[in-house]
Amino acid sequence: MKKINQIEPVISLNDKLAINKYLKSGGWITENKISKKFEKNFSDLVGAKHSILHPNGTLTLLSIMLALGLKKNDEVILPNYTMVATANAVILAGAKPILCDISDENLCLDPNKLTNKINKNTKAVIYVTLNGRSGFIKQIQKICKKKKLYLIEDSAHSIGSYLNKKHHGTFGIASSFSLSMPKLITTGQGGFVVTNNKTLANRVNEIKNFGRRRDGNDIYFSVGYNFKFTDLQSSLGISQLQNIKQRIKKKKQIFHHYYKNLKKIKEIKMFEFQKNETPWFIDIYLKNPKKLQEYLKKFNITTRLVYPPLNSLKIFKIKGSFANSTYYCNRGLWLPSSINLKEKDIKFIINKIKIFLNNYAQN
Ligand SMILES: Cc1ncc(COP(=O)(O)O)c(C=O)c1O
Repeated sequence: MKKINQIEPVISLNDKLAINKYLKSGGWITENKISKKFEKNFSDLVGAKHSILHPNGTLTLLSIMLALGLKKNDEVILPNYTMVATANAVILAGAKPILCDISDENLCLDPNKLTNKINKNTKAVIYVTLNGRSGFIKQIQKICKKKKLYLIEDSAHSIGSYLNKKHHGTFGIASSFSLSMPKLITTGQGGFVVTNNKTLANRVNEIKNFGRRRDGNDIYFSVGYNFKFTDLQSSLGISQLQNIKQRIKKKKQIFHHYYKNLKKIKEIKMFEFQKNETPWFIDIYLKNPKKLQEYLKKFNITTRLVYPPLNSLKIFKIKGSFANSTYYCNRGLWLPSSINLKEKDIKFIINKIKIFLNNYAQN
């Protein structure tokens, strides 16, 4: 039986040729001109002035918070439904993560609940556009402005996702994108800090380069680290960006295919996307996602349970009212979502889900 992965990278022949071409060119692998070009191309895609490459989308968040000067006792509010990296980056930056519940309309941070979490120690909000959904980003932007808080966007799921015509990751002071294997374009690992703020961009560049403002010398302006990227990966990234439009289109088609077939099933809840939003993983919510996962596994269909609610993790163990995130995190399942999925694969998966719900759901 053919295996259907929940997600797999799509590396085209052109991508392979691009890597080969780079290697043949005698490039020195390390971050240099090709990475500058990749940064420029990404800035063009998202419509921002600065995109700064990093080894992954965790260090990007860290760099932003270090560049903003966050320190001990500073509180950073983030959603309870996100990947643990969002919270861990706050800890790594030496600040305190404060978890906040999500909206049951779109699974992103709830502006009303956010307001209750703000106090005199609050310095920033990390807004996660979960699965590529914009949620209440405009309202959150307003609250941050009024309360003088930094708005950082964790746009890890949002490559190719827009609110109207504005790309995710351009609403706050800075944002973080990930280029890890499951993302719409991937370089294996990787990430971008995106910002329109030149001072912040300079600070981030200094932090990622040992505290230097230039390569190849030993003049250090501040404590910095090595968060550099490689030109080898950038050659792949540039090639992947070249067909971003087709990638976006394919993701939307996949979502619509699932959605039109599953939306009427009463046991399943799905959240729709707005016109210019690009779905990342196809998420469905139902009573016992683990049972469905096990059932689909029998047919070589792999799925992934969505993130656990962060407050329930041993490392946080925070009591409190997180009703929506607890509800949805315990019910969520990510279905196969790779852009190389065939229509017949999706039909096969949908058919199996329907059989499961008819025969097994009651047990
Ligand atoms: C919401 C979110 N934030 C941050 C990250 C971390 O990104 P990376 O894996 O590139 O470190 C991820 C990873 O998928 C994520 O989903």
